[in-house]
Amino acid sequence: MIVLIGGEKGGCGKTTIATNLATCLAAAGRDVLLLDADRQGTAANWASERGERPELPAVQCVQRFGNLFQPIRDLAQRYQDVVIDAGGRDSEELRTAMVAADAMFSPLRASQADLWTAEHVDQLVGLAKSFNPALRAFVFLTMAPTNPRITEAADATEMLGEFQHLAVATSVVRDRKAYRDAMCEGKGAIELADPKAAAEIHALTAEVLSHEQVQSSEAPIH
Ligand SMILES: Nc1ncnc2c1ncn2[C@@H]1O[C@H](COP(=O)(O)OP(=O)(O)O)[C@@H](O)[C@H]1O
Ligand SMILES: [Mg+2]
Repeated sequence: MIVLIGGEKGGCGKTTIATNLATCLAAAGRDVLLLDADRQGTAANWASERGERPELPAVQCVQRFGNLFQPIRDLAQRYQDVVIDAGGRDSEELRTAMVAADAMFSPLRASQADLWTAEHVDQLVGLAKSFNPALRAFVFLTMAPTNPRITEAADATEMLGEFQHLAVATSVVRDRKAYRDAMCEGKGAIELADPKAAAEIHALTAEVLSHEQVQSSEAPIH
């Protein structure tokens, strides 16, 4: 499955989601490639940190920039899953990855600034769908407050319902130290002792996989 994690906002947790999703897919025994298409290279740094820990399930990572359409299609022949971290701005990488992907999950914080950028992402998804009508595109909340008295997340989820092309995913990822720790250690939150973070990532991964299309009979070749 080709899953794009992208949006037009920096710092909303895209790389955190991409690395956690890749880790969870690898832990499920799937053959996963993390494609870092953000020139900041945070996902690639995470993967090289992980490479120092041979006890963990391997997550291969490559960096590609520019027009990603053909590179993604080629990589998808060789890996069961390709998870793309396309960075946080309107870019050639983001637009071409949208045309190649099966699904896009766009993380947003519960802030007005994030919601405004999602309006433009919604337009880009509309454009991408004229080339890739099968694209399923979602927004979901990340770094949501864990304090149940703070209703920002619920308020923002209501506002998320107003997009034309972006549906609202049911998964929510909250603000948890485990995600920051995991990033530093080349790990996923499922590999740390925070069952709530692990449950969030398992739920998100299951939601992503629920949008996997039935593939043709071709087996991946290595
Ligand atoms: N759910 C979360 N809870 C706590 N910290 C988070 C969470 N998601 C991301 N972070 C932290 O926020 C910072 C930005 O996250 P990152 O994934 O690099 O964002 P982006 O790729 O969108 O720029 C990092 O320090 C990361 O560890
Ligand atoms: Mg990033």
